[in-house]
Amino acid sequence: MNNEELTATDRDRVEGLLRSMTWDEKLAQMQVVFRPDLAELERWIRAGVGAIFWPRSAAAVNAFQRVAVEQTRLGIPLLVGLDVIHGQRTIAPTPLAMAASFDPDVVERTARLAAAEAASGGVNWTFSPMIDVSRDPRWGRVVEGFGEDPYLTAVMGAAMIRGYQGDDLRERSSIAATVKHFVGYGHAEGGRDYNTADMSEHLLRNVYLEPFRAATAAGVAAVMAAFNTIGGKPMHAHRRLLTGVLKDEWGMRGVIVGDADGVGNLVPHGVAADLLDALRQSVRAGLDVEMGGSLTDRGGRALLTSEQLPADRVDDAVRRILTLKARLGLFDQPYVPESAEITEPTRQARALVRAAAARSTVLLKNDGTLPVNLAGRILLTGPYATSTDHLGAWTQSFAAPAGSIAGELASRYPRVTFTIEPGAGFYDDDPADLQAVASAAAGQDLVLVFAGEPSHLSGEAASRSDLRLPGRQEELIRAVAATGVPFVVVLINGRPLVTSGWIDAAPAVLEAWHLGTEAPAAIVDVLTGAAEPAGRLPMSFPRSTGQIPVYYAHENTGRAATTGGTMRQETVDIGLAGPANVAEKYTSKYLDLELGPQFDFGHGGGYTTFRHTNPRLSADRLSRAALANGEQVEVSVNVTNTGGRDGDEVVQLYVRDLVSSVAQPVRLLVAFGRRHVTVGETITVSFELGTEQLGFWDTEANPARFTVEPGTFTLYIGGSLHSTQELTFEVV
Ligand code: BGC
Repeated sequence: MNNEELTATDRDRVEGLLRSMTWDEKLAQMQVVFRPDLAELERWIRAGVGAIFWPRSAAAVNAFQRVAVEQTRLGIPLLVGLDVIHGQRTIAPTPLAMAASFDPDVVERTARLAAAEAASGGVNWTFSPMIDVSRDPRWGRVVEGFGEDPYLTAVMGAAMIRGYQGDDLRERSSIAATVKHFVGYGHAEGGRDYNTADMSEHLLRNVYLEPFRAATAAGVAAVMAAFNTIGGKPMHAHRRLLTGVLKDEWGMRGVIVGDADGVGNLVPHGVAADLLDALRQSVRAGLDVEMGGSLTDRGGRALLTSEQLPADRVDDAVRRILTLKARLGLFDQPYVPESAEITEPTRQARALVRAAAARSTVLLKNDGTLPVNLAGRILLTGPYATSTDHLGAWTQSFAAPAGSIAGELASRYPRVTFTIEPGAGFYDDDPADLQAVASAAAGQDLVLVFAGEPSHLSGEAASRSDLRLPGRQEELIRAVAATGVPFVVVLINGRPLVTSGWIDAAPAVLEAWHLGTEAPAAIVDVLTGAAEPAGRLPMSFPRSTGQIPVYYAHENTGRAATTGGTMRQETVDIGLAGPANVAEKYTSKYLDLELGPQFDFGHGGGYTTFRHTNPRLSADRLSRAALANGEQVEVSVNVTNTGGRDGDEVVQLYVRDLVSSVAQPVRLLVAFGRRHVTVGETITVSFELGTEQLGFWDTEANPARFTVEPGTFTLYIGGSLHSTQELTFEVV
């Protein structure tokens, strides 16, 4: 049975309940109560509240569920929600890190594990995945999402939904997923959290809505409204998008939930006079569940009357909520077996997240220093040498902690002499510590620098205006470089960083993000070559904070530059100097910065090398009619492992529509595949190209019109954004 369909019994049950519910009971169902004290929570449940946040154990869930099922008039079971973002007990890499794996299977499998652990404790609903595209790494929440690209985000989001929801929500190990934050939240002005995110319909449709469209098609159970405004309208009151696009145009059959106090926030936004006005506007706009618990007063009496809300809108909301409960099998099985609650990672769970962690690492640069041979005398420095802060944003106190890298190294390599000299912390440090590192480095065979951002500097309400390494860590790296001892920098962070102050001085740099419970083991695996670093960046790394937003799928502008960073004053005489001189001056660039990011989207090395040959198409043209009929062509390339080790290549296919009625991105990722290739082996990698990959939302004519225009397309296929082979394709 389709995951979204109900049995006849469940349908009757939902309709029967709807018929017998009072107005107060209906409105009580329409809320998820956010952090009340436990005594108060029980009163709310008696008043018929529909959903609660996880009360921290299977036993507590059963106790509250018993009140709902056995001690209320209608006996409707509770939805039990929680932010299970990248793990419940066993923590997987952050979503941004897992996006770097370019491996949807990793995302699905870790989400499945998270679902099983959370469900065993009675959670039946998670507020994940976050599928906000973001091109601004100042925004701390980039760590919760899958980066700057709508296609990568859509693929990873759908994988996570499959992992949480499984084939059937009724399975004990399945939980309902929520995609968030609908929509545009990642476009916050200045990268400041909760800020205005105004944008054109063109950008909205072609970039920000795309992952949500894919998630709806994947059958996601719920969608969470965002805190931002678009066109001055806060999303919690945005009828055109919540109802018009999500429910009417896309046919989303799940539940739209508000974000925490997002309804109440309509008052400070300045679009609602008071809470009642805010509630009225939100429900009318299409919100089904309010997060915060303000639709009823403490006695459970509905705050809004039937004059203030259309009865059929309320019925629609309650029908969606009851349907979700039925899909989860809660009416038949409201309780969870307490003895089966998983409270710590199993060996298999640890192995899974360790492999996921290694697969998420990205080799930013390497002169051959990596992988390292751990022998002799090794100096460990930087705040992350001894820190255990590896879980990353959005993990809770009950998560299984990580150890430190120094601890991991000492236990796995007892014969190596490790010296630890912190050198710098995350904040203001004593410059004398840098001196100590310089002295300690003398006579060492290798220095490993573990630098980065503590996890509280990314995530919600954690925007930064300067993306360099905090504290004196840049100085630390330069001090290590000055010693002449070979060294490696390992970065542990929640967002793209600005590395220009030290990157040229570092022989090898590994991006290791916040990798979760097994981070130290995975990092050591990769450093030593026991595992391959074959991830690719899901977001561009800017050269400076002032360059943001910098992202690969930008438009060409009318004046694309060929060089940047030319501060010297050149006299340009428009009349006499000739077009070449004029042409270069009046181009789109910064005078004080080279063009392009420090590291591109899709960038990443490995411990072996690959050659891409014989790019080809099964046909070099297709008619629009054939495309409209679902016909596709196949794009293929041969990939040979030309290096000395087995390894993974991430083959990427980008498209550029050369002439279109509206400016198109210079490249747009439309397919990718991570493949294992053994030494000397050649494999063929193929992708399908059809309407989805060649078309765009033409919002000029009608916002809901997806079209493929005739003309020439350039296809780029290869192992990175730039080192790609070109093909030409015609749509006639
Ligand atoms: C966040 C959401 C989260 C919710 C519940 C909000 O502040 O924006 O992403 O799901 O809290 O914890």
